[in-house]
Amino acid sequence: MTQPDANPLARTRADFPLLQRCIDGRPITHLDSASTAPKPRCVIDAVTGFYLEHTANVHRGVHVLSEESTELFERARQEVASFINAAPSEIVFTRNSTEGINLVASGLGLREDDEVIVTALEHHSNYMPWRVHAHAVPVGLLPDGVPRYEEIGGRLSPKTRLVALAQVSNTLGAIAPVAGWIAAAHAQGIPALVDASQSASHLPIDVRAMDCDFLVMSGHKLLGPSGIGVLYGKRERLEALAPYQVGGGMVKLHEEEHFVLQDVPWRFEAGTPNIEGAIGLGAAVSYLRNLGMEAVQRHSVKLGRRLVTRLRAIKGIEILADSVPDGQRIGLATFIVHAPGLGQENIARLLCDRHQILVSGGYHCAHMLHHRLKLEGTVRASTHVFNTEADIDRLAEALTEIVEV
Ligand SMILES: Cc1ncc(COP(=O)(O)O)c(C=O)c1O
Repeated sequence: MTQPDANPLARTRADFPLLQRCIDGRPITHLDSASTAPKPRCVIDAVTGFYLEHTANVHRGVHVLSEESTELFERARQEVASFINAAPSEIVFTRNSTEGINLVASGLGLREDDEVIVTALEHHSNYMPWRVHAHAVPVGLLPDGVPRYEEIGGRLSPKTRLVALAQVSNTLGAIAPVAGWIAAAHAQGIPALVDASQSASHLPIDVRAMDCDFLVMSGHKLLGPSGIGVLYGKRERLEALAPYQVGGGMVKLHEEEHFVLQDVPWRFEAGTPNIEGAIGLGAAVSYLRNLGMEAVQRHSVKLGRRLVTRLRAIKGIEILADSVPDGQRIGLATFIVHAPGLGQENIARLLCDRHQILVSGGYHCAHMLHHRLKLEGTVRASTHVFNTEADIDRLAEALTEIVEV
């Protein structure tokens, strides 16, 4: 009788050609997917297949290749919709999460004194747009960086137009109590935007159950191509947003006297979209769905646990959000390495140069968090479906060597 596979995702490794890469003749250990993730072969094939077999514009041409492109593009929208339990008409293709958030920020018609509730640890992409278009009101942080989510209710005021928070922060890896803050916002008739840039690769997402009004994702972190992202919006919310770009493809009619906007979501996709990007993203989310997002979450949480356990055991390492309860962290940990004469970016570089381990080093587009915690940078290790506990053990051994020198 065959034994059940202890790590059912371990065999996914073979699906990612990039993981065969060597540096200085030695194989890499990839722990940097929170920045951008390697692509499985099926995504690469979907993109090259489009170039080789179809390459035509969408929603415009009348010939066969154009029909095929349109069908593949719209099928990708359906794949993405099913991935998060939305309707295809609620899926706007954007360039990335940043563009999705900017689209909402400019489309809501915000005024300078309107308020948007955020946390101090939001990625710049979910902070800057609210700062520029309105007034961003951050909730506080605990000393280890975890937001005081319970403060959200108290921050809501008649000026609040939106609550916009990450479901998983790119610096902490902690899974936020999304349902609670969305309910608090809705109790006051305020819509909520979920930044799922990090969470979508690690947790099952159901926008209906979550009841968020908007949600953004980035294709490149979800094993898909760069330059493609998603803005989900409840249909009535999308219909109330003003398009922030105008041009070809977003109007049904354009005459001297007037023009008529396309229906949602196409009115937000002015110009030729990233067709191959959308098709690649469709392939990426079906790949993840085939693995099963519950299995992906279990795997991620297990790796998160291994990360903190191994890092905590190294003298000279401090982990951010160390107070996060067991099981509430994806496979991501950000930490400070105390090694004489070495900054955090130097540590990340050393891990690459000496050990072929790829991690992030610096501020991770979360300056406010680092500023509040008085940190001059941090190191971040982040996993995806193909990582194993052995990758984390390799990181821990390398860090032990660095701090002990
Ligand atoms: C939590 C979070 N939000 C937003 C973004 C922005 O994503 P993108 O650069 O793909 O637009 C990132 C990227 O790292 C992120 O981690």
